[in-house]
Amino acid sequence: MYEDKIISGKEVSAYEKGLIADRVKALKEKGIQPKLSVIIVGEDPASQTYVKGKHKDCAECDILSDNIALPESTTQEELLAVIERLNKDETVHGILVQLPVPKHIDEYAVINAIAPEKDVDGFTALNVGNMNIGKDCFIPCTPQGCVNMLEYAGIDVEGKDVVVIGRSNIVGRPVATLLTQKSATVTICHSKTKNIAEKTRMADIVIIAIGKAGFLTGDMIKEGAVIIDVGINRNAEGKLCGDADFDSCIEKVSKITPVPGGVGLMTRVNLLKNTVKSAENVEK
Ligand code: GUN
Repeated sequence: MYEDKIISGKEVSAYEKGLIADRVKALKEKGIQPKLSVIIVGEDPASQTYVKGKHKDCAECDILSDNIALPESTTQEELLAVIERLNKDETVHGILVQLPVPKHIDEYAVINAIAPEKDVDGFTALNVGNMNIGKDCFIPCTPQGCVNMLEYAGIDVEGKDVVVIGRSNIVGRPVATLLTQKSATVTICHSKTKNIAEKTRMADIVIIAIGKAGFLTGDMIKEGAVIIDVGINRNAEGKLCGDADFDSCIEKVSKITPVPGGVGLMTRVNLLKNTVKSAENVEK
């Protein structure tokens, strides 16, 4: 009944994967086989599920991927040595360290040990800096996924009032930056924001990434608003759900991304795109 309001990640992802497969074919004809190396430290079940998904996606698009699974007890030095080896390995185009890493390891040191030209997450200081000044770089996969969903739905953000809920380095801050570069007027809300509902009710577009199931309810948005839901949570019944309360928002929105089947799929596609981009850069 509300199908025309749903921005389907499945549709966008299938379309994008077709384009990626074409680019991989062209690279292979030139003798370049794109390859992603994924490092996972420890046994966090959620991380293991995400990593499995990444390998499956690579296989679908004919991108090679290898999995380097290290025990929880791995020292920072050992992890840095693995990254250094992959930095030097010319057959590897993308390096991804699944986060979070165990507490005894300094996440910043690990991320910044990755060669920026292989940093397909876009998390190194160089890529973050270049993204902030609008230079060519690897853009983080989830924020880019939010932009992709808006573009695919034909929503022009220029001059629009956007409220981003969440200020993480992985999603909130970079998505605010990308949309500001596209001439949106962006407000970032977070745990210390006074009266979030007052802000969201003024927004043409709400992007929510706080990891709280059903946080954004229908009474917090204006008629015709667009919701991009980055949350992946499980509700009391164990069902996957987003940060927006879909049932109370659906009547009021003009567009909304579902969970599952929304932004998460675009995150996965953008990792593939960044890996292919890195392989294409080798030729330049
Ligand atoms: N853990 C949760 N999201 C991400 C991501 O986008 N990249 C990495 N490396 N780890 C994550």
